[in-house]
Order: sequence, then structure tokens, then C-alpha cells
Amino acid sequence: MMKTLSTLQSAKYHVKRALQEHSHPTVVDATLGNGYDTLFLAKEVGTQGKVFGFDIQSLAIKKTTQRLQQEGFLERVTLFHVGHEYWEAFIPHGYKNQINAVMFNLGYLPHGDETIITSPETTLQAMEHACQWLAPRGVITIALYVGHEGGQNEANHVVNFASQLPSNQFQVTWTQTLNRTHAPSLVVIEKRK
Ligand SMILES: C[S@@+](CC[C@H](N)C(=O)[O-])C[C@H]1O[C@@H](n2cnc3c(N)ncnc32)[C@H](O)[C@@H]1O
Repeated sequence: MMKTLSTLQSAKYHVKRALQEHSHPTVVDATLGNGYDTLFLAKEVGTQGKVFGFDIQSLAIKKTTQRLQQEGFLERVTLFHVGHEYWEAFIPHGYKNQINAVMFNLGYLPHGDETIITSPETTLQAMEHACQWLAPRGVITIALYVGHEGGQNEANHVVNFASQLPSNQFQVTWTQTLNRTHAPSLVVIEKRK
């Protein structure tokens, strides 16, 4: 029997697909956390690629920097210790319409302060920027968690925002597990040509 992909495996599958055939892709990790997704992205973009990353917590910046340093990928990554809603002020404007993939992994920093969580207002602002800056065929993956307080509300906002994107410009899917309570789900937004 074919094994079902987890939410994060699915997100990575979509990112990999978007980066295929790009010799110097540019990607954004909108929520660095412990840096696992950043490391994945840094490996995927290759020697000519570029990764930008955001997080509001100094612990996340520290953990991600350490992880990238240990694995030798720090030089292709630029980390911003600021909220992803400030995207426009931090990512150089030459990258407009050039972003091939954006990963959002919402919620709290695992093994960190569980009261510091992503919030609907700032998440939607960052998603709006991501949609505007995406290259043709670029993808945005948003992993949604509903097990913590505020998670379901944020998931509702994200799904509502994504479902209103014009279908002639974006293809939007939402993958959910139906028979497990509080299972994470994945929204994928792909920009059409
Ligand atoms: C689930 S964790 C991310 C996990 C991470 N991608 C990894 O591989 O470990 C969510 C992160 O979002 C961060 N966060 C919360 N609000 C944010 C904001 N406005 N902008 C950027 N990051 C934010 C939190 O500090 C936390 O580190």
C-alpha cells in the first residue's frame, strides 16, 4: 500500500516540484522556528540559490543559525529577526515576482515558549506579500495546526483568505486528515503562469 505523506512531507514535495528546473531559485521560510525547514530549503536551492527567513524570537534565530552553520549552509541564507509581515521592508525589491517558494509552518516554536504563536492578522499580511512576490509556477505552503489555543481561528482565517484568491491567477488546495482530531492540514497556493 502507498504510504500517505505527512503534512510537512507534502509541503516539501510541493516546494521541490516548484524548484525543479531553476538554476538559482529564491525561497522564503516565513517561520524559522528550530530551522529544520530552513535547512531543507537551503539544501534544495543549491549553490546558486538564496533563502530568506523570518522569525520574531531570538531563540529561533539562534537555533536556525546554529543548524545552518553546523551543516555548512549559512552563506546562502539571510535571516531577519522580525515578523514576516515586514516582508516588504526586508526582502530586496529586486526579488519581486522572483520568489519560487514560501513555507509557512504556523503555531508555536516546538520546545520553546508555547504562548508565542503566529497570529491571523500578521500571517495574512505576510501571505498577501508572498502572493504578490511569487514567480509564475511558484508555490506557498502553509502548515496549519489547530491543537493549541488560537490555532483553529488562525486556520479559519488562512483558509478563508486562500479560498478567495482569484482562480485565474492561483491554484489553491487544502489537504486535511478527516479521521483524527487536531490533525495538521496543508494549504498550497500555486501561482499560474
Ligand atoms: C511551528 S514554528 C516553525 C517551525 C520551523 N519551520 C521549523 O522547521 O522548526 C512557528 C514559528 O513562527 C514564529 N512566529 C510567530 N509569529 C511570527 C511572525 N509574525 N513572523 C515570523 N515568525 C513568527 C514563532 O516564533 C515560531 O518560531
